[in-house]
Amino acid sequence: MIDLADARCGEMIVGQASKLFGGLDVLIHNAAIGTSGTVETVPDVDFERVLDVNLMAGIRLAREAVPIMRERGGGAILFTAALAGHRYVPNAVAYAVSKAALIHLTRCMAIDHGRDGIRTNCVTPGPINTPMLHEASAVYGIPVEAMRAGMPTGHIPEPDEIAATYAFLASPAARSINGQAIGIDGGMSVGFFSPKP
Ligand SMILES: NC(=O)c1ccc[n+]([C@@H]2O[C@H](COP(=O)([O-])OP(=O)(O)OC[C@H]3O[C@@H](n4cnc5c(N)ncnc54)[C@H](O)[C@@H]3O)[C@@H](O)[C@H]2O)c1
Repeated sequence: MIDLADARCGEMIVGQASKLFGGLDVLIHNAAIGTSGTVETVPDVDFERVLDVNLMAGIRLAREAVPIMRERGGGAILFTAALAGHRYVPNAVAYAVSKAALIHLTRCMAIDHGRDGIRTNCVTPGPINTPMLHEASAVYGIPVEAMRAGMPTGHIPEPDEIAATYAFLASPAARSINGQAIGIDGGMSVGFFSPKP
């Protein structure tokens, strides 16, 4: 596995993939890590690792991808941000800051590279049924069932729902969608469901 915290991850991943497949049409930066804590408690080394994996890797991958896509007449760049980049859950400052920055990186790149035919979008998931969710549930002491109960749809999305959104965003059907943060959160970004007492 190539470590996304490595400053050479762009050359190693995008450069190699492009050589292997003869080009590049879609880049997805999905991997991320979290660490619990506030500005008072998260040491620089941990804060920087979260920013390296979650944000700088996206920048480094995109830096390699943009010229290749430009040369081919365009492409789609997709980042996985998070609802936490819009709405904060306490004690996760490094993760939240990295995701908020990804949302704005998406907007910046949409404008800088739109005329090259390169569309940049991100998704902002709420809870998704993956190992990260179960780890967060243990760390923050919030049972997954309580998260499910608070979701307006009463359903925690599965990873294939994220994949389907990526497939759409990368497709010609999404040719005018650029610079957007698409919530995949069952409506949590607009409100929480409270059961009747
Ligand atoms: N699961 C959720 O509830 C949730 C909510 C919002 C956003 N997200 C986002 O969805 C994306 C996918 O997360 P997930 O839930 O599948 O998390 P996960 O922890 O289950 O999986 C993360 C993946 O990232 C890889 N990874 C971690 N550090 C790496 C590194 N340095 N180099 C290369 N790979 C590395 C891991 O090997 C793993 O495959 C992330 O961007 C995450 O922030 C997840």
